[in-house]
Amino acid sequence: MFEAKPLPSSASKRDLYASLAQQLAALLEGEPDAIANAANMSALIYEILPDLNWAGFYFMRGSELVLGPFQGKVACVRIAIGRGVCGAAVERKTSIVVPDVHAFPGHIACDSASRSELVVPLIKDGRVIGVLDLDSPHPNRFDEEDREGCEQLVQIYLKASELPA
Ligand code: SME
Repeated sequence: MFEAKPLPSSASKRDLYASLAQQLAALLEGEPDAIANAANMSALIYEILPDLNWAGFYFMRGSELVLGPFQGKVACVRIAIGRGVCGAAVERKTSIVVPDVHAFPGHIACDSASRSELVVPLIKDGRVIGVLDLDSPHPNRFDEEDREGCEQLVQIYLKASELPA
């Protein structure tokens, strides 16, 4: 049975993401189901990364994003491309770090406690198939190290999972 290994609160982001990458690869090994893997990845991130109030996925369904597996409070189900941070990340095909969600035009508030956000697009064969979204109740929670660390986790997810072509 897999059990997440928490790190001490003194752990650096570098150590946190190195451990997360190792644990995620072990957790997803041999399992191609994209939904099961997204569910376990959300749970692992939520358990290991400090100061989050939401961690989860949205997947492209037709021309919009639809809520996938997550940890945190109930969230809005459908997001149009270009709307909110998630829709902007799809449109721009790039990760977005938002230090203060109140200053991001069009931000969609699912949990009013959210103050900062990181969204990483899932890009397969040049096409965005969804996003990984992390929210924090603290302003300025995410930086470049988080962006790089989460992009690496997304690569592990994409490699392990069978996704629509
Ligand atoms: N805040 C996001 C919406 C999703 S929730 O945070 C889970 C956005 O602006 O796209």
